Amino acid sequence: MASRKYRVKDIRLAKAGRLSHEWARDHMVILDKTIDRLRKSKPLRGVTVGMCLHITKETSVLLLAAKELGATVAACAGNPMSTQDDIAAYLATRGIHVYAWTGQTKKEYSQCIASVLSHKPSILVDDGADMNVMAHFDPRFDGLEVIGATEETTAGVSRIRAVERAGKLRYPVMIVNDAYTKHLFDNRHGTGQSTVDALLRSANLLIASKRIVVVGYGWVGRGVASRCRGLGARVIVTEVDPIKALEAHMDGYDVMPMANAAKLGDMFVTCTGQTGVISKAHLLAMRDGAIVGNVGHFDVEIDTAFLLGSCKVREVRPGLDECVMRSKKRVYLIGKGRLANLVAAEGHPPEVMAQSFSNQLLSILYILKNHKTMETRLYNVPDSIDVRVARDALAAMNVRIDSLTEEQITYMNSW
Ligand SMILES: NC(=O)c1ccc[n+]([C@@H]2O[C@H](COP(=O)([O-])OP(=O)(O)OC[C@H]3O[C@@H](n4cnc5c(N)ncnc54)[C@H](O)[C@@H]3O)[C@@H](O)[C@H]2O)c1
Repeated sequence: MASRKYRVKDIRLAKAGRLSHEWARDHMVILDKTIDRLRKSKPLRGVTVGMCLHITKETSVLLLAAKELGATVAACAGNPMSTQDDIAAYLATRGIHVYAWTGQTKKEYSQCIASVLSHKPSILVDDGADMNVMAHFDPRFDGLEVIGATEETTAGVSRIRAVERAGKLRYPVMIVNDAYTKHLFDNRHGTGQSTVDALLRSANLLIASKRIVVVGYGWVGRGVASRCRGLGARVIVTEVDPIKALEAHMDGYDVMPMANAAKLGDMFVTCTGQTGVISKAHLLAMRDGAIVGNVGHFDVEIDTAFLLGSCKVREVRPGLDECVMRSKKRVYLIGKGRLANLVAAEGHPPEVMAQSFSNQLLSILYILKNHKTMETRLYNVPDSIDVRVARDALAAMNVRIDSLTEEQITYMNSW
């Protein structure tokens, strides 16, 4: 498998991919700074890194950064539908072993992860835990010597925690998602903006005055709700966690059970990481013309089996399927229920991904430096990395801040 160096949709797209990569890189200054600091020492020389991430223009900056720092990089998509084919082609021409194209079958998607693992990476960078799960449980990779891995998203964190709880974890995993400079900006600002982008690109209807139901008020849901409200939507939140529900209520949103919200919403966005949050019964209760989309990591949040399997389906706009029920009622599904902000739009903006990927790059380097003393367990990203990323991000945005005086430090430490 590894003898094949790449597999992409069309290598001739590389020229367009280069322009797109350059646009992203120009807006990911803080990642550039990290590369600049390390370019001479090439700390990743001799290391093979396997990455399972959405192959977008922003990700291309991380992949080429790892290569610039000396690594051999093999990469596949973190989702069968999220690859930007021009970027995949460009990466192939830049010496990345990339196995990714948009519209993969589930089987092709798994084969691509296996292709990456066949390069025998010693560090894994994952988004959703599909690669880490394969590295742990597929007998083909029993002998793989991994010194450490990272996990990019909330859904992947839950899965890798389950592996740890079962006592089956084989190497340390750094939870990049939980770094403050990751989830606060990426999950909230990144998904908030790119979800609106997905609603606009797929449906292009007026957001102002619409009732938008945000399912789940975690980091992602808070971002989606605030951006939709910013455009004049009347936002309804559904939750299962009383504290998050209270927060949503105090933030000024209508909070109610999904059974009620289903009847009221014009658009629905699931943001939970949970399965079955919009069920067939909810879909049947929706008004004619309702639009539903998911931005949670996996396509399990909406009953797409009912919409795509039992309704009459036609694609009415790119990324938007009309699903006509037996009653003739129409519900529109964005991106087949997969990550709408990546399938129907381009994912997070580069400035946000620069922070997430600085965390990734610094975590890879942390593993490389410390793996001999690291235990087989999950690790939070050290505060020093979080603070470094925040300082670099502020500097990139030309924002200066104060620092504590000696007197204030003494005051803070005295009883
Ligand atoms: N689309 C993207 O680009 C992107 C970016 C970051 C994270 N994610 C994914 O988005 C999902 C959410 O991430 P997060 O960081 O906001 O997680 P989170 O844990 O902060 O929030 C999830 C929220 O959903 C709520 N919830 C769970 N089940 C529910 C139900 N049945 N009904 C209503 N609410 C329910 C939880 O109580 C919680 O408040 C995850 O799958 C994550 O991997 C996607």
